[in-house]
Amino acid sequence: MQRIAVLTSGGDSPGMNAAIRAVVRKAIYHGLEVIGIQRGFSGFVEADMGPMNLGSVADIIHRGGTILRTARSEEFKTPEGRAKAYANVQRFGIQGLVVIGGDGSFKGADMFNNEYNLPVVGVPGTIDNDITGTEYSIGFDTAINTVVEAINKIRDTATSHERTFILEVMGRESGYIALMAGLAGGAESILIPELRHSMDEVCEKLIRGYKRGKLHSIIIVAEGAASGLDVGKQIREKTGLETKVTILGHLQRGGTPTAFDRILASRMGAKAVEMLMEGFRKHMVGMLEDKIVAGALDTAFNGKRPINMEIYNLANILSI
Ligand code: F6P
Repeated sequence: MQRIAVLTSGGDSPGMNAAIRAVVRKAIYHGLEVIGIQRGFSGFVEADMGPMNLGSVADIIHRGGTILRTARSEEFKTPEGRAKAYANVQRFGIQGLVVIGGDGSFKGADMFNNEYNLPVVGVPGTIDNDITGTEYSIGFDTAINTVVEAINKIRDTATSHERTFILEVMGRESGYIALMAGLAGGAESILIPELRHSMDEVCEKLIRGYKRGKLHSIIIVAEGAASGLDVGKQIREKTGLETKVTILGHLQRGGTPTAFDRILASRMGAKAVEMLMEGFRKHMVGMLEDKIVAGALDTAFNGKRPINMEIYNLANILSI
């Protein structure tokens, strides 16, 4: 193998730049050439790509977002779009591809490999941490730290005004951000899409807390479980308590990556290059029990990642 390409696809996540840096530097270290593809699969289809060198990835390890830009390409979902991408594979002499993104991006890479047999390795990069086959995806740690920081700030106001705050967080169909940030932030209730919730129980817990002398309450709602505004309205109607709703939105996707995410990204990016060099053809990198491992690419999108019930139960016990 002489030349590989790298792209970032789907929603950006903090640490993607550190992963790009690792791919480029590890590949060059081993004498490979690297092509950087702009705007994910869109740039793959439109030949928006060019060579990268050691300097192309200087001064990016600490930056959020992705220097390669990212997109969700509709054209790549069509056979015609993928045929155009394959023409670019031939034109640029690409012999292997590293895709940094979420399960949707892995699905696209898997389909492309089935049709054109180009070796692909997926590196999980998404704040959602919803990818089966890895305990952590790049960006998740930074995102939950951002949410925890927001909880800390809101807690000041919640206590001062003795109010109930509802915080809606991202995660798409996954409750991982809500669960982990909820535990770390000491939330009273955490609503996640993986588990049924009863608003009556949420309200009873709130009332119990206030009767016991609690000054404030914070409820974390994963966007996939319910709308924060609806939850706020229901609590107000059922309890008469004043509720304030904050939707954190895209600020959870940005920011300088934590040390954890930079280390994870560096290890995963380097592993992806090793895997291509070793002949892996349709695989993903994962982190399992602190080891960086290779897994089948379709592990990521065949089946939903189960929520960690031990953590959920613990969060419930500690917020009694
Ligand atoms: O997958 C990352 C994510 O931020 C999800 O948590 C969220 O549902 C979605 O992307 C938002 O997508 P967009 O940036 O396209 O609005």
